[in-house]
Amino acid sequence: MQGLKAELLRGLWYVAMPGGELRPGKTVSVPMLGEPVLIGRAHDGSVFAIRDICPHRGIPLRYGTFDGNTVECAYHGWRFGRDGACVAIPSLREGQQADIAKIRTGAYPCVERQGLIWVYFARGDETPAGREAEPPRLPVFADDVGPSLAIRMHFACSADHAAFGLMDPTHAAYVHTSWWFKRQARKLRPKEKAFEPSELGWKMVRHPLPPQNLVYKLLGKDVSTEITYRLPGLRIEEVRGDKHAVVGLTAITPITDEATEVHQLFWTTPGWVKPLAPLGRHLMRVFLDQDRVVVIRQREGLMTAPKVMLINDADTQARWWMHVKDEWANAQKEGRPFHNPLKPRTLRWMS
Ligand code: FES
Ligand SMILES: [Fe+2]
Repeated sequence: MQGLKAELLRGLWYVAMPGGELRPGKTVSVPMLGEPVLIGRAHDGSVFAIRDICPHRGIPLRYGTFDGNTVECAYHGWRFGRDGACVAIPSLREGQQADIAKIRTGAYPCVERQGLIWVYFARGDETPAGREAEPPRLPVFADDVGPSLAIRMHFACSADHAAFGLMDPTHAAYVHTSWWFKRQARKLRPKEKAFEPSELGWKMVRHPLPPQNLVYKLLGKDVSTEITYRLPGLRIEEVRGDKHAVVGLTAITPITDEATEVHQLFWTTPGWVKPLAPLGRHLMRVFLDQDRVVVIRQREGLMTAPKVMLINDADTQARWWMHVKDEWANAQKEGRPFHNPLKPRTLRWMS
């Protein structure tokens, strides 16, 4: 079972930030997977990610400046292109030849799609290939459609504990107790859901949602949902009615092996969402903050390295998470394809 730290998986695309938060000509430092990453948007609108460390004397490049094309280090003015290669060393005099093309800070594959900036973390120096040649694509929406709502929060826990929270069907009655979320949350009811393996994880098979719920009514008739969980910590929910669709993404991005950034975003087809965005964001914050506070308290206990446990069927998905993760790590170590270790199964619990 997991303690304070989690193994950080490589060979996968991670959500870095919503693209809408990065204007052309700007850079932002986004620590991910224990590495300092500088993400920028050039004047032409394209995004890039380089290592946020100057290879000359080690100062983070974020203290420098960006002219929309090259990043200039704050210490001695060396400049770096969007591929991380050095393009200028101002102190060189004529005849002083340094092979500057060989000087590089690292660069990461970086893609912007559906309003999200994704960064690929390689295991060695390989480029993205095979099933991870590009970032996961969310259902329903075109590549140029961004989210209507986006928030993110820092969680003082490992990616494993953040992931367990994502797939934990029985904490809501005790943690998410706001009046607007679920009336009589403590009145537990029997639940039964079918699951099956899917790409790099599993999914809760599409099932109808209660027609009396006002929010679902706004999507039309016959509203149903499908929830997918996959590496490296993505929960994708696709809610569809006969008129509209909503796609929700929760993405867990490790900052280090014991700290995590949790992104929550919604893509929506109905135009009426825009005026409701401030209220929506507020409610999302209240909800996510309840999870954030729980893991801070949990951390107090985990510091004493207790033996903790997972039980059936409430925590079965947490077990699946560890199996899928282990299989990914082993497949990479052994240089073989990933084989999904899960089988279709129905889970039952009270919540
Ligand atoms: S430390 Fe960056 S240019 Fe010297
Ligand atoms: Fe939660």
